[in-house]
Amino acid sequence: MDIINSYFELADGNRMPREGFGVYKITDQTILNQSIQAAYQTGYRLFDTAQMYGNEAMLGNALKDLDVNRDELFITTKVSEANQGYDQTVKSVQQSLKDLQLEYVDLLLVHWPIHQHFFETWRAFEDLKKMGLTKSIGTSNYGMGHLQLLATKAREMPTVNQLERHPWFNQSAMIKFDQDNHIITQAWAPLGRGRMMSNPSLVSIAESHEKSVAQVILRWQLQSDIAFIPKSSHTERIQENASIFDFELTSDEIKQIDSLNQNTRISQEPELVYELGHQYPHN
Ligand SMILES: NC(=O)c1ccc[n+]([C@@H]2O[C@H](COP(=O)([O-])OP(=O)(O)OC[C@H]3O[C@@H](n4cnc5c(N)ncnc54)[C@H](OP(=O)(O)O)[C@@H]3O)[C@@H](O)[C@H]2O)c1
Repeated sequence: MDIINSYFELADGNRMPREGFGVYKITDQTILNQSIQAAYQTGYRLFDTAQMYGNEAMLGNALKDLDVNRDELFITTKVSEANQGYDQTVKSVQQSLKDLQLEYVDLLLVHWPIHQHFFETWRAFEDLKKMGLTKSIGTSNYGMGHLQLLATKAREMPTVNQLERHPWFNQSAMIKFDQDNHIITQAWAPLGRGRMMSNPSLVSIAESHEKSVAQVILRWQLQSDIAFIPKSSHTERIQENASIFDFELTSDEIKQIDSLNQNTRISQEPELVYELGHQYPHN
């Protein structure tokens, strides 16, 4: 198995790569072009952006430069809080597609749940899928309550729920809930934004496998049976992060990594975003 051949089948029948490439905070066209080239050559096929990242147009240019068949790529974007509501969602997705220079995305996510436009935004998503502007629809940062509430009116449920997930915030209950509801969990900040690279347990596991800490963390994500989208703007790290299919963590090592959980988030508490509905300065 390798990065190109490792897929999940989504509940709607579409396929999604298990490991993808995140482009949050890459806002320089030259660096983005180099990163996308390196990622594509390494075997990444899923590229994850969002309206909020301000780089959809740059990603569009970088993808065009790749000059590959559209069906080789899996492109995700997300509707920001400021663009929620039925009409605004439709309009903003049309603009995203224009910026991305694409006729459709493979996966459209609601970036964060907000109470003001909760159901209308989802109705727009269902219609955008029918219109062919996205192949699959999903959510991001939705908790159990949000998904249960959505189920009271949705004609179609999310196929993917993209969540913050790393060894300090391991989301075991949410992953189980998503699995029970045929939703693929996709980890964002799968490397914990690089903040746990000197953790002694992770360093020791990495040494015993002659791998890096980043590779151990991503292998733990892989063996958790979820999808994940690390970001790097360095070619060696982009390659390193994909080279995780040639070793296996033992169940003891998995338990050791699970035990690092501190329930600490890097980003916002979704319930607060739902309540306040602000466009957060996600830092
Ligand atoms: N849905 C949401 O609300 C949400 C929120 C945040 C992010 N996301 C998505 O998830 C993607 C990934 O999350 P993220 O970018 O926040 O964090 P991440 O992938 O966990 O970590 C990225 C950081 O780790 C460093 N890094 C990458 N590979 C490394 C390696 N092998 N060794 C050491 N350091 C390494 C990167 O540095 P260099 O770049 O300098 O190599 C960068 O600083 C984003 O790009 C975005 O697409 C979604």
